[in-house]
Amino acid sequence: MLIGLQYGDEGKGKIIDAIIAEYGIVARFNGGPNAGHTLVHDGKEIVLHQIPSGIFHPDKLLYIGSGCVLNLEKLMQEIEAVKELGISLEGRLVISDQVSIIQPDHIYLDGKNGGGLGTTGNGIGPAYEDKAQRYKNSRLTDLLDDPANSRDKIIEYYKEAVKLNSRMSITSFLTSLFQQKSVDIVNKADTIIDLSQQLQQYICRDPLWLVKQVESGKNVLFEGAQAVMLDVVHGTVPYVTSSHTIAGSAYVGGDLPPRYHRKTIGVAKAIMSRVGHGPFVSEFGEKRSENYCMENGGKKYTKEYEQNNYRTEDLLKTIDWFNIGIALRMMGGEYGATTKRPRRLGMFDLVQLAYACKTNGVDELYVTKVDCLKDFARTPWKNIPVVEAYTANGLKITYNNPRLPTSTQGYSSAKPIVRFLSSFTENISSVRNYDNLPQQVKEFISHIERAAGCPVKGIGVGPDREQTILR
Ligand code: IMP
Repeated sequence: MLIGLQYGDEGKGKIIDAIIAEYGIVARFNGGPNAGHTLVHDGKEIVLHQIPSGIFHPDKLLYIGSGCVLNLEKLMQEIEAVKELGISLEGRLVISDQVSIIQPDHIYLDGKNGGGLGTTGNGIGPAYEDKAQRYKNSRLTDLLDDPANSRDKIIEYYKEAVKLNSRMSITSFLTSLFQQKSVDIVNKADTIIDLSQQLQQYICRDPLWLVKQVESGKNVLFEGAQAVMLDVVHGTVPYVTSSHTIAGSAYVGGDLPPRYHRKTIGVAKAIMSRVGHGPFVSEFGEKRSENYCMENGGKKYTKEYEQNNYRTEDLLKTIDWFNIGIALRMMGGEYGATTKRPRRLGMFDLVQLAYACKTNGVDELYVTKVDCLKDFARTPWKNIPVVEAYTANGLKITYNNPRLPTSTQGYSSAKPIVRFLSSFTENISSVRNYDNLPQQVKEFISHIERAAGCPVKGIGVGPDREQTILR
């Protein structure tokens, strides 16, 4: 079981690549096309959203569990993109027929109402809403066994959503924000039904499939989408996704009983990031950064804009964390894989990490992008900032007892207490052995282990698959 411990985009796919040898199956249990990781193969780049990690390992099976929500059109596009790389998914990709599908009304409603939270606009929230509402939910099994009724439902619910929402005054603003196009709903419904037929070779009608695989000796690596702080209950509600992202939920949406659980692996990024709105205690530039990154729904300050308008050298010299955040984003390529929005960046938060590790029972940690920490040596502070504690409502919250405020108001008012750790100037991206890392990196890692209460088993020192130091 592998989960993101922060706000998503921790580099989980890369860590999966590094540890995949001991597993036979990589399985998703939550989320849908809101997730995204960029893969480079023979110089070609593709972004996968719904297919589990591990496509480059032909002997690994890839399972999409019933807890996910799927956009069939996007899934087909991903399958085609993978095929174009010369990689076969035949007999490897297995999709639970109990997966709920994302319907056109879900995408429409998310476009209308998701802007305030900064959702990815993929219809995730409305799809999970309908899953809980039950009548409106359509699963792959329904599409296959009762296509006529499923088609009618798709059309009816879309028309109903448009009718109900056309009276909302905020609608026109949000419509322009998400640039919604009108949908030929009859055509769309036919396409979805057709796609369910075309995808039949991947759809599994046996709810015991994964159990049987494990009984026959295969190890499963559950791949959590999003991250702990985006959990629908345990995250920074309401600025979260709509599924459970915590470790325990793998044994609900992943179609395997918890008796097979072996260990929980957590992934954290050395310079944290968040996309969308919501509290982020360690953010460089605080609210100013959130407003900047989310201007025009995150579409204003794009990668191109920043590259054309700023020089990282200049930004790094200023005594302003907001500017340093922009420089780190540009150098680290921190723009959303799914939405292209600029990611809000922040210093490594040990209190938040301790919360994530304790609430999920994390057994071992992987820390990514540790090589990027060397850029702090070029700032006026010269050293690496980490958040050691918070003050919130007059109380001090430490990583020894990381009782995070549970309300948005409470968490947003928490102020970070920052400590500086010694920086390093060496390029560590070609280091492959822990012993050869600079002493300052080892101290950073020890500090994390103390706060998290578990060992750091791997360190990412660059974007490539081989650039992971395993201990
Ligand atoms: P939704 O999941 O599209 O409903 O978006 C809800 C919130 O979760 C927004 O702040 C998104 O930016 C965030 N989010 C969803 N998926 C990811 C992800 O894979 N990485 C980072 N943030 C995500």
